Parts: sequence; structure tokens; C-alpha cells
Amino acid sequence: MRYEGRVVLCAYSLSDAPCCLLSEWGRGQHDMQRRTVIDIAGGRFLVTGGASLIGSHLTQQLLEAGAAAVILFDNYALGSPAVAASLAQDRRVTAVRGDITRLPELLDALDQVDGVFALAGFLTLPLSQNPGLGLDVNVLGMYNVVEACRYRGVKKVVFASSVATYGNPEVDAVDERTPFYLTGCKFF
Ligand SMILES: NC(=O)c1ccc[n+]([C@@H]2O[C@H](COP(=O)([O-])OP(=O)(O)OC[C@H]3O[C@@H](n4cnc5c(N)ncnc54)[C@H](O)[C@@H]3O)[C@@H](O)[C@H]2O)c1
Repeated sequence: MRYEGRVVLCAYSLSDAPCCLLSEWGRGQHDMQRRTVIDIAGGRFLVTGGASLIGSHLTQQLLEAGAAAVILFDNYALGSPAVAASLAQDRRVTAVRGDITRLPELLDALDQVDGVFALAGFLTLPLSQNPGLGLDVNVLGMYNVVEACRYRGVKKVVFASSVATYGNPEVDAVDERTPFYLTGCKFF
């Protein structure tokens, strides 16, 4: 049986996020099948951008699901240290000040981590205010995350993309086959 890894983090169903780590869809011999990749209970996870809006909620869910450790990796460029400190009241949570554009900091933090949620990034507004830094974080930073995970043998990385990558789609629900739609033109 051959599996192809896919990562889908549904924007309107944050509660599905831990499931993305837990299992993945793969093409079996005859149909798409789900297989378990990582057990959240007892697992060790790192959340880049852990002090973010999504990261803080995700951390709560991982804790509720029995994670043994959650590392919040954030440089607080946009997130709040107070959010990380509040989450760190749970002894399973560690707040690490780190920058995804610095590979050595990621390598240090990723020791013995089972899975990573890659949430650090510059969304539309901060990106428009500081495009140079935003590109560094979103492109070079994400490359560093994947490279550090490969080096450290992390079993799975979940990348939270955005519906904004589809432009202004003509349909209500989008999936991987939906074309990018910029008003007036389509890219397939
Ligand atoms: N908010 C939404 O509605 C939404 C919807 C779909 C997808 N997402 C995705 O979820 C993720 C998180 O979104 P959010 O709204 O919670 O973001 P956010 O703006 O609240 O947080 C981004 C986090 O990244 C951190 N960060 C920025 N640069 C960093 C760096 N160099 N190193 C380490 N940390 C850094 C910031 O300090 C902040 O805590 C993003 O990838 C986003 O695309 C968000």
C-alpha cells in the first residue's frame, strides 16, 4: 500500500487541527484511506508562532488531548509573551523565545519532538506593513522549519495555510482543486 501525505487544516474547523497530526489521508490500493501517524496523548509537540491566536487555541486542544509536552516557539514579533506565560502555567507547556529565521534556534528547540505545527508567519496586514521581513519569515522561516524538522527526524509537520491563497474564489467552499482567482483572471 502506498500513501501520499497531505496536510489539510480547515479554516472553519480549528477543532480538526490536532487530527491533522494524528492521522493523514493517503491513497490506498483502491481508495483514500486514513492512517495514524502520531498519537497526541503522550506526544511532544512544538508550535511555531505558539503565542498566536490560532497557536494558543491549538495548544489548549493538544493539552486536552493528553499531550506530554507543548513547546511554544515564538519571537513575539506579533504575539504576546503574556499569552505564552498564561499557557505555560500548565507544567507541560514551555515557552521558548525563538525566531524561525534562525535555524540554530529551531534545531535546539526541536530536540525529541514528535510533531510540529508551523503557525509562525506574517499575515496580510503585517506583511503589507513590512514586506521584506514578512517574506523572510514566511519563505526563509518556513524553509528553516522544514529543514530543522528533517534534520531532527520530526515525524510530521502541519502547515497552516490560508484561504487567502485562493484569491477571491467563485465558490463558497474551496479545496485543493479550486483555482486561484484574482478578480478578472484565473490561474490553474
Ligand atoms: N487567523 C486566521 O483566521 C487564520 C485563518 C487561516 C489560517 N491561519 C494561519 O494560522 C497561522 C497563525 O495565524 P494567527 O492569526 O494566529 O497569526 P498571528 O498573527 O496571531 O500570529 C503569528 C505568530 O507568529 C509569530 N512570529 C512572527 N514572526 C516570527 C518569527 N520570525 N519567529 C517565530 N515566531 C514568529 C508572531 O509573534 C505571532 O505570535 C498562520 O500561518 C495563518 O496563515 C490563520
